[in-house]
Amino acid sequence: MQKRLDFSEVIKGKYPEPVAYAVATDGDGKANPITLGWLMQTSHIPSMFAISVAPQRYSCDVIREAGCFTLVFPSSGDAKQALYFGTKSGRDTDKIGESKTRVSEAEVIDSVIFDDAAANFECVVIDEMVTGDHVIFVGKVVAAHCNTEKTDRLYIVAPGWKMGGVRAVE
Ligand SMILES: Cc1cc2nc3c(=O)[nH]c(=O)nc-3n(C[C@H](O)[C@H](O)[C@H](O)COP(=O)(O)O)c2cc1C
Repeated sequence: MQKRLDFSEVIKGKYPEPVAYAVATDGDGKANPITLGWLMQTSHIPSMFAISVAPQRYSCDVIREAGCFTLVFPSSGDAKQALYFGTKSGRDTDKIGESKTRVSEAEVIDSVIFDDAAANFECVVIDEMVTGDHVIFVGKVVAAHCNTEKTDRLYIVAPGWKMGGVRAVE
């Protein structure tokens, strides 16, 4: 049986939702991460991701101007870090520097990769479109990096940006 309700009520049932960061380098050379819940893989060959960024975010301008970003899959223990990157703005904060996050230079694009993340994907922006109140950037993957230790991804598991790991039911 189904019951018709407001979208904002029904969408509360979407969890878990994967978390990622898009990291792009601004005009001052500062790598700035934004926490995202709205993203998806859109193609395997070539490999592509779409990310959805609100136009008022500092990251929206930075990603557009940089033309590339790293898509980071944080690990399941990174909830505090994800909340920090998702509540501070790169307009007035050096999020990576202040949080002492361990990063290395990306290999192909002008960005960084996160040393302790579950995975990192270096992406070149190949398309952009406005969808309602967000902007979708389509990134083509030009390099992919995986943690050498087995590391689970981080998810939003409940409303209010509650985050943690998710395990398959055996
Ligand atoms: C768990 C979580 C998920 C988020 N998902 C998105 C998202 O998909 N798109 C978006 O534009 N902002 C999202 N945000 C909000 C941005 O991360 C936040 O506004 C951030 O401070 C923007 O940083 P910037 O100004 O440096 O770009 C999310 C925040 C959190 C905590």
